Amino acid sequence: MKKIYIIANWKSNKTIDEADAWLKQISSGKINFSEKEIIICPPFTLLSFFKQKLNTNNLGISLGSQNVSPFEKGAYTGEINAQQVNEFVKYVIIGHSERRINFKEDDSMLEAKVKQTNKYGLTPIYCVQNEKTFIPQGVTIVAYEPPTAIGTGHPDTPQNANFVAHQIKNRNPQIDIILYGGSVSSQNISSFITQEHISGVLVGGASLDASKFLELITSSTL
Ligand code: PGA
Repeated sequence: MKKIYIIANWKSNKTIDEADAWLKQISSGKINFSEKEIIICPPFTLLSFFKQKLNTNNLGISLGSQNVSPFEKGAYTGEINAQQVNEFVKYVIIGHSERRINFKEDDSMLEAKVKQTNKYGLTPIYCVQNEKTFIPQGVTIVAYEPPTAIGTGHPDTPQNANFVAHQIKNRNPQIDIILYGGSVSSQNISSFITQEHISGVLVGGASLDASKFLELITSSTL
């Protein structure tokens, strides 16, 4: 049976107090998280907090970051490099459409980010907007996220997401895990993860509320 990935992308949300309340609620849910690969990607400011808590409470949840510098350490004001990120997380989201649109990240910058993650032993989760989006060497996990589905309540159909995932695999044989993202909820998660070429989901809005996120995890049956 395929391993299911559920990735929570918190975007620019939550303070330490809010993250603490969320984690307390998640821990009280008495769910065995380790059957699936659950990855929380909070803002950088919460990585230290999460690392400490997840080490002590053994929930079986992994950590990811939402971004990484395309550069090595040095004179790059405001950037956080892959060596630093590697002190906290295993995964890094790269190429989310919000970064492509709001921060003008292009293919060559995203490729440089992937190179940095590879160099420092991190696993990139590379977001693509359609089957034709360029995917750099060194990527093994891809998240298909059509921009019209992000935060709109209008997800792609599971059948089309599966079709796109299949095309991505055909065009990029090195990719072994494809996730779907965009308006995923506890109501629709199973319809995506039961598709042949989809191994999990990237979740934004529905991951911010602990009870909704718990419901999403318990609804993710194959
Ligand atoms: P959404 O966001 O679940 O709120 O649509 C998904 C994403 O941006 O990764």
